[in-house]
Amino acid sequence: MGRPRMVDGAPQGEEKRLSKEDSLRPKSLADYIGQSDLKQVLGIAVKAAIDRGDALDHVLLYGPPGLGKTTMALVLAEELGVKCRITSAPALERPRDIVGLLVNLQPRELLFVDEIHRLTKVAEELLYPAMEDRRLDITVGRSSSARTRTLDLPPFTLVGATTRAGALSSPLRDRFGLTQRLEFYEHDDLQAIVERTASLMKLAVTPTACLEIARRCRGTPRIANRLLRRVRDVATVKGDIALIDSSLVDEALKLHRVDAIGLDASDRRLLQFLLQKYGGGPVGLETIAAGLGEDISTLESVVEPFLLQLGFLQRTPRGRLLTDSGRLHITNIEAS
Ligand code: ADE
Repeated sequence: MGRPRMVDGAPQGEEKRLSKEDSLRPKSLADYIGQSDLKQVLGIAVKAAIDRGDALDHVLLYGPPGLGKTTMALVLAEELGVKCRITSAPALERPRDIVGLLVNLQPRELLFVDEIHRLTKVAEELLYPAMEDRRLDITVGRSSSARTRTLDLPPFTLVGATTRAGALSSPLRDRFGLTQRLEFYEHDDLQAIVERTASLMKLAVTPTACLEIARRCRGTPRIANRLLRRVRDVATVKGDIALIDSSLVDEALKLHRVDAIGLDASDRRLLQFLLQKYGGGPVGLETIAAGLGEDISTLESVVEPFLLQLGFLQRTPRGRLLTDSGRLHITNIEAS
């Protein structure tokens, strides 16, 4: 089993090393920028759980990558004053992996399972009674001497995250009391996120430069923070930059082939493929994946959502279709 990370305010031992992303994460709902509906719903559920002295109901968070699902799980744990154990479905391949995690949970703790749509059938079936009745049915012994034992679990909260809610089995989906979708962020929220990150990184960046990054990060805070690091690289190499402005942002993002509305090379490749090879489509996803040498599920959960959100792409029963605005964008880019 991949050892789960355990995160509370003060992680211990080797978990003390925080990743670059961890150190920038907001720690409370009040610090978490954007996703106002999600914050409202979860804020009420957290308060109610604290008032009742009970565990928060199980939460399913879904949406494209980089929008803050892990961050929200950590925020929930902080708000509840409990630890959050972090793992992902591919690390729970053997039944003993999930059993080990569940039996070690303390009352009201959070168990965060990323990519929950990838759980094995066996792991799912262990989770059903655990989620519903706080009960774990395990088999001890082998073949003829095998017996089933039931272990009682403390109240706990499973926070599942997925980029593909549709890929979850319906019995699993039905066991979450709260199911919430994370949305792409608006420019003003992204600007505030970039300003916050810049200040944590002790970088002087003009508000307009922060807005420029916000416009070019595909509505995604993780990308915004990554772009800010690339801009910082350029500033570092130039040497004498006291204040990062929008022309420096433009220079750095051009270097990384991020266009004016944030599309990167893989987005453009998809649009170009549709236009040049199929006159705009409709084209089946399998054909696109084969033509681009990409994985179907990466296209579906990582590349397509923002293009759909922009209205550059449409999903039709006969396949993917390039819209007029998608066509216009890619034609203009090619002309420039
Ligand atoms: N950093 C990344 N995502 C964030 C968010 N939603 N709020 C505040 N800081 C963030």
